[in-house]
Amino acid sequence: MARMHRTLLPLFLHICLLNWSAWAKVELTMHEGVEVYLGDSAQIPCQYSFTDADNKPSFFMIQWFVRAFRQPASPRIRIFYGDDKQQMVDNNTDYSGRIQVTSDQQGTQLTIQDVHLNDEREFFCQVNGLVAGSAEGKTHLRVFAPPEAPVIEGVTTGISVTNEVPTKVASCEARNGYPKPNITWYRNSMPLMSTPGHVNMLILVTRESSDFFSVQSTLQYKVIKEDKDAHFSCEVSFFVPGAIRTVESNSVNITVHYPTTMVELWKESPQGLVKEGDTVELRCQGDGNPPPVFIFNREQELDVDLESNHGDVLMLSPVSRKDSGIYQCRPLDSEVKGEMQLTVHYLDPAVVVPKDSEVMLKGEDLTATCNALSSLKTSTVWYKDGKQLGKGNTLHLKDATYETTGEYICEVTVPSLPALHTSGSVHIIVQGGPQLVGVEQEVQLEEATGRMVNLSCEVQGHPLPSISWSIVGSQNWQEVVNKANEHIIHSVVSVKVTSDTSAVCNASNDLGTEVKAFSIKAIPRVTSAAPFSPAEGSGVIIVVIILCLLLLAILGSVLYFLHKKGKIPCGRSGKQEITKEKATKDDIVVEMKTNTKNEEAVLLKAVNGDKKGPSDQ
Ligand SMILES: *[C@@H]1O[C@H](CO)[C@@H](O)[C@H](O)[C@H]1NC(C)=O
Ligand SMILES: *[C@@H]1O[C@H](CO)[C@@H](O)[C@H](O)[C@H]1NC(C)=O
Ligand SMILES: *[C@@H]1O[C@H](CO)[C@@H](O)[C@H](O)[C@H]1NC(C)=O
Ligand SMILES: *[C@@H]1O[C@H](CO)[C@@H](O)[C@H](O)[C@H]1NC(C)=O
Ligand SMILES: *[C@@H]1O[C@H](CO)[C@@H](O)[C@H](O)[C@H]1NC(C)=O
Repeated sequence: MARMHRTLLPLFLHICLLNWSAWAKVELTMHEGVEVYLGDSAQIPCQYSFTDADNKPSFFMIQWFVRAFRQPASPRIRIFYGDDKQQMVDNNTDYSGRIQVTSDQQGTQLTIQDVHLNDEREFFCQVNGLVAGSAEGKTHLRVFAPPEAPVIEGVTTGISVTNEVPTKVASCEARNGYPKPNITWYRNSMPLMSTPGHVNMLILVTRESSDFFSVQSTLQYKVIKEDKDAHFSCEVSFFVPGAIRTVESNSVNITVHYPTTMVELWKESPQGLVKEGDTVELRCQGDGNPPPVFIFNREQELDVDLESNHGDVLMLSPVSRKDSGIYQCRPLDSEVKGEMQLTVHYLDPAVVVPKDSEVMLKGEDLTATCNALSSLKTSTVWYKDGKQLGKGNTLHLKDATYETTGEYICEVTVPSLPALHTSGSVHIIVQGGPQLVGVEQEVQLEEATGRMVNLSCEVQGHPLPSISWSIVGSQNWQEVVNKANEHIIHSVVSVKVTSDTSAVCNASNDLGTEVKAFSIKAIPRVTSAAPFSPAEGSGVIIVVIILCLLLLAILGSVLYFLHKKGKIPCGRSGKQEITKEKATKDDIVVEMKTNTKNEEAVLLKAVNGDKKGPSDQ
């Protein structure tokens, strides 16, 4: 177990006792030092020999001595005695019971068990050969105890770069070592040397009651801004038998305080363009540490401080166009400042001209405009009844009709900021006299006597016309529908056909009058005929009959006219003449003329019973 170590070259103590007999002398050799860990056992050899080996003295004695611990001048104390008869450890010394001495041909060796710190002293070996004289040597026993791992503690408060002298940055302690350990400081793994005005190391060495050394080192350092990222560590170095060992501490970082040299101000939210009503967050940041409290101002009101959140955020909520402008922030303790321009965009309500509602006369033109003030380019689209009419802020309405009437909506959007949009509207009313809905102004129809017929009259106009009916030929009638919306009035009268009847729907307002005339020809019922429901095909048949009658009437009058003028002679001769000119045409004319009565009868028959009537046409 003994970890003895030979340090320097063994020093050979050559002690010759000059002997007057000159035939024998003793020579003795010891190491200068022996090094051992605390608690281990130490071996201290002592080699001796006699110059004349053949003449070795028959009697000699060996003694081991020590001096008191840490008292180099104190008298020596014997701890062991041995001769050829006895081996004896002295009673009542520091070594009673803790040492052994073994001897062989080369010499003797002292073994000390469980080495203590106070075993660090000189051990003397003395050989006394009487006639051969005596010799003595000594070995310094050195004891080593490694210290505990170093403990570093960084300063947690901030250290300012403006400090003019080195300030404490960290302290490091290595406890209970022997002999005294050393402490070395490192910054980012580079050893720090003591430099006046920049780096100081204050070392405090404590000798514990147990004789151990505890070393404490305080690093004083003039910090620079870059030290905010630096790591500091300490290393303890200590002697062990035959070597120097080192153990490094953890590393610590420090908080460096440095002034602000640059400030930046920017809009944190919202992203993109700002519009009225938004909540705007402006953030200010500087490069100083600790982050300073900032003062916010507007450029036009530098004497007014705006209230900030946590000293670095300015909240504006809700913003209006008045909040547009240049904003600044600067730390309390410095002149540097950050600056930014805030633009709050807006879109005012749309103004439509004409406003609310406008009355136009039929046939008139009108130009409507729609404008909304905005800080950005806008786009306007006009709609009516959900359909797009046009783009741009003016709308031209030309030649107004009743269809022009309605609600015109303009929608104003800001393409670059879609959240901004507004709309306006104008209600256009077209004023004019009554106008029939549908084309017919005169309606002629036939109806079997005794039946009911509905006469419908639908008129638009503004102001809303009123409808009055005057019916001649029937006493039995009544209005069954009378309804109106804003611009259209619809009236239906149900008339019982008793005889030929004429009805007039008279629609009138302040601007005019419009009439729709109905004439109903009453058809006597033919009882023998198969029942025929006029409701089913009467409309078409009546039209057919009327057309035939008209045709016949025209033919009749033409023929009569020609006859009067003498162009067509009566009887056969006339027929011949025409035939000469244009045979085919004549045939038709004559036939039509001669058959007029018959045809009428056929048609009337068809109306009353024969359903193939309309298909003949
Ligand atoms: C030490 O003490 C023991 C017993 O007490 C005794 O026998 C011995 O002789 C003593 N040794 C010396 C060197 O006095
Ligand atoms: C401790 O420092 C002293 C003085 O610089 C030096 O002589 C000694 O060898 C050092 N000890 C160790 C263990 O490094
Ligand atoms: C020290 O460094 C660690 C990690 O590198 C970091 O989290 C911590 O904030 C630093 N402490 C100081 C005081 O700078
Ligand atoms: C006439 O109109 C009324 C009401 O719309 C309806 O009840 C009736 O059946 C109609 N009469 C005829 C002959 O169409
Ligand atoms: C229609 O009615 C208006 C007002 O009631 C009247 O002035 C006008 O003469 C009438 N027209 C006809 C054709 O009956």
